[in-house]
Amino acid sequence: MTRFMPLEQYPDHRLAPVLAERRSRRTFAARSLDARTLGQLLWAAQGTIDNDRRTTPSPHGCYPLVLAAYCTRVEGMAHGLYRYCADPFGLQPLVADAFRVDALAIGEQPWLNEAAALVLMGADTGSMNRHFADQGAERGARFVYLEAGAAMQNVLLQAEALSLAAVGVAGIKEHAPEFQQALGEEVTPLLVLCVGMRDGAAACQGAVRGHASDSSRA
Ligand SMILES: Cc1cc2nc3c(=O)[nH]c(=O)nc-3n(C[C@H](O)[C@H](O)[C@H](O)COP(=O)(O)O)c2cc1C
Repeated sequence: MTRFMPLEQYPDHRLAPVLAERRSRRTFAARSLDARTLGQLLWAAQGTIDNDRRTTPSPHGCYPLVLAAYCTRVEGMAHGLYRYCADPFGLQPLVADAFRVDALAIGEQPWLNEAAALVLMGADTGSMNRHFADQGAERGARFVYLEAGAAMQNVLLQAEALSLAAVGVAGIKEHAPEFQQALGEEVTPLLVLCVGMRDGAAACQGAVRGHASDSSRA
């Protein structure tokens, strides 16, 4: 007979309530995000701690992730595209002529247009493959995908802890020139995080709508 051992947990211990509350939230209020909140989300993804470490784990401490922010409604920041820098912590404005949010995602994903800001994430998978070639030809790319997932979760949990709305979109058109504009030439686009203020009453509707309507998404 198979033995079964019931488990218990600590539902109130530090991170547990945030983990339990987290949802992919695809409905955003029309209000602006403040720049410090955007900074907090970017720090959650790739912030420096103890000088040489970051908020997301990285194999060999390579930290290959490249982040950009496309700000539509962020107080004190002009509408446009910015490259994120972990150290010094800040954003560098980029020229973003004809940046089309519609070009980024596969299928109908209106939350990209409705978010106050997008965080675009990518990495130079080629250089990671070369770095980890002794472990296998595609090992570096595999590590990048794992790290990107960890960074995405950091942002989603930080957004939840701040009572924001956020969803990670990996159903993307990676060949869209907008990604190159945002992340640079050698960088493989990996995902887009849509973030914004939570629209109280409708906070969970978007998740239902988004999940059921388009099978081309992950
Ligand atoms: C790798 C990955 C890719 C995803 N891609 C999309 C996407 O393209 N569009 C979207 O709206 N949600 C996307 N999601 C969010 C999932 O749809 C969502 O996590 C799932 O429906 C479970 O809901 P929950 O996050 O609220 O628990 C993705 C999630 C993951 C982990």
